[in-house]
Amino acid sequence: MKRIVTLVSGRGSNMQAIHAACVQQGWPAAVVAVVSNRPGAGALDYAAAQGITTAVVDHRAYPSRDTFDDALAAAVDGFRPDLLVLAGFMRILGAAFVRRYEGRMLNIHPSLLPAFPGLHTHRRALEAGCQAAGATVHFVTPELDHGPIVMQSVVPVRPGDDEHRLADRVLATEHSIYPLAVRWFVEGKLAVADGRVRQLAGESQSFS
Ligand code: GRF
Repeated sequence: MKRIVTLVSGRGSNMQAIHAACVQQGWPAAVVAVVSNRPGAGALDYAAAQGITTAVVDHRAYPSRDTFDDALAAAVDGFRPDLLVLAGFMRILGAAFVRRYEGRMLNIHPSLLPAFPGLHTHRRALEAGCQAAGATVHFVTPELDHGPIVMQSVVPVRPGDDEHRLADRVLATEHSIYPLAVRWFVEGKLAVADGRVRQLAGESQSFS
């Protein structure tokens, strides 16, 4: 049974999709904890209602990124994770933290990486005249929104789209691809070599 710990900052809809799929599909895994850097994160309410252990490591209580990262790692390690899932976690993690969990930490980013790392991805995609947007699940490396790509969803841009409409359609695909990527990880179906991720059963890593 693989132990999944999720890191969140907000509503946690991706975390919820992963938890629901894990339970409903009977993965060899469990979401054992939801850890937030924000005390008011909506994700904590969902977790509590589902009986998932929660923890808050409030970044405002720490004088530096390093001291916050150390406290976060101590909290996370207490849950003995096999996999760390970043699900709308809005703090940049330092290199030491990332290396501690390298190869067992996933993130989802709402763009077709390597395009548009960072914030306001949908606005930037629209401003650039992109005809397609999407989301990327990737292993976390010290460089922000970088790292070996596990899976991507491609979402066409429609005439009249604004960033909110586009974000909603991309988010709907996030709720499909992130649970699948996590499932593949816990089932041992992912191999990383030379910065590339291979799905060992040969299943498609691209969705549209
Ligand atoms: C998602 O769009 C995700 O791609 C990004 O932050 C958002 C989090 O949404 N990293 P939620 O908290 O999972 O609902």
